[in-house]
Amino acid sequence: MNFNVVVLAAGRGKRMRSKTPKILHEALGMPMLQHVINAVKPLNPAKTVVVIGNGAESVKQRMAVEGHLSFVVQRQLLGTGDALSVARKELKKGAILVLNGDCPLITTKTLRTLIQKHKRSRNALSFLVFRDSSQAGYGRILRDENGWVAGIVEDKHATPEQKAKFQELNGGVYILEAEVLKHLESIKRNRTSGEYYLTDIIGIAARNRKKVEAYLCSPEEIRGVNNREELFEVADILRKRIVKKWMSRGVTFINPDASFVSPMAHIGQDTIIYPNTYLEGATKIGDNCIIFPGTRINDSVIGNDVTIKDNTLIEQSRIGSGSSIGPFAHLRPHTVTGRGVKIGNFVETKKSTLGDGTKASHLSYIGDAVISRNVNIGAGTITCNYDGKNKFKTVVESGVFIGSDSQLVAPVRIGKGAYVAAGSTVTKDVPAGSLAITRVKQQNLTGWVKKKKSRVKS
Ligand code: UD1
Ligand code: CA
Repeated sequence: MNFNVVVLAAGRGKRMRSKTPKILHEALGMPMLQHVINAVKPLNPAKTVVVIGNGAESVKQRMAVEGHLSFVVQRQLLGTGDALSVARKELKKGAILVLNGDCPLITTKTLRTLIQKHKRSRNALSFLVFRDSSQAGYGRILRDENGWVAGIVEDKHATPEQKAKFQELNGGVYILEAEVLKHLESIKRNRTSGEYYLTDIIGIAARNRKKVEAYLCSPEEIRGVNNREELFEVADILRKRIVKKWMSRGVTFINPDASFVSPMAHIGQDTIIYPNTYLEGATKIGDNCIIFPGTRINDSVIGNDVTIKDNTLIEQSRIGSGSSIGPFAHLRPHTVTGRGVKIGNFVETKKSTLGDGTKASHLSYIGDAVISRNVNIGAGTITCNYDGKNKFKTVVESGVFIGSDSQLVAPVRIGKGAYVAAGSTVTKDVPAGSLAITRVKQQNLTGWVKKKKSRVKS
């Protein structure tokens, strides 16, 4: 079917009490609007138009990655009916699938089913409804004595009788054929709110004997977000959905209620995820990994058989298979490790590569460094990469042993198999196979303590 999509996303979102446009508020680290776009994309619509208004520029910027979207600006926020009128001018011929931008739970599958039912029944207008007596603020579907859809009344305008009698709630997802669209112009401004309600088109179409049909859908798919409480509820439904999916694919969650997994993340089989862990963005975790509590991994790729110990932060990095990271490690962007690497307690890395089998087990800062294979970086080693103005590179060739508490003042290169004695400050390149030692020679003053004490007494 040739059809267009319109996403209504111009609203103020007053009930959010926020300076950020409502549809940019995130569920699982992704704007609500992006969730809706992701559900729509696989349907291959002829055109997808997003109606923006409040915070239009920031919405455009945030959604810039979605190059296929067209944006139209609704100058005055006069309601959902007005929003669709504004979009209509931009549309190609064919039916229109309209969605509210604040319903991030909607799935492609449900939209596809709606489109199929709409087509098969040759409806002029089809839309999704749900039942959930715990919810308020939704439009109610009015039905005539024969059970046909007769219209929608908004919650705030519904009489107690209507509320008691009509339990179906409007999900805000509609397909409209051209024969119904023309009735957009007949929508009247609501006297109390001053808005043009898109929902009024349902009653108008019904009165004009158009075939209007409402399809029941799960509340887990259609809940809208108008305030922060609903944002949490919807995000939690999404979170559970994603965690369940990974459990069904062979991932263990010690406490599924306490793990956050981004919709873009991927987790391999037999990986075990402890509570209070955050897998953000397009993070990819391999098979057989263990992610211990308090870990946050953002946009990173973790190989197979990796252990990430407690309270570790990994950002935009790649970890080779069989490595062990943490506890309390901070891998800043562009850390890349080979296989079987160990990065231990209180080690910070940044823009550095560590070759296969290299170990930095305790208390180090490794920045702007290229460290080759099987290097041992002793406790307290620091790459001094910054002179206050510029950053310099440290190169450590394979098999090097850096003694504890050493400073490598960049730019500097430590040759293959070299040793740096503990406590050295290395300012010059170290040739392969040599020992660099820069500390003062030790003297032992025998009997010094006794002499000092007798001096104090006299
Ligand atoms: C709307 C429906 C309601 C339905 C509910 C489902 C109307 C009148 N009511 O109510 O029947 O149960 O959604 O979630 O449509 N928007 C614009 N321009 C505007 C006003 C709103 O683009 O001038 C956008 C908003 O950004 C939002 C969507 O339209 O994404 C819905 O608006 P909102 O104010 O949230 O409507 P609800 O009161 O939730
Ligand atoms: Ca809403």
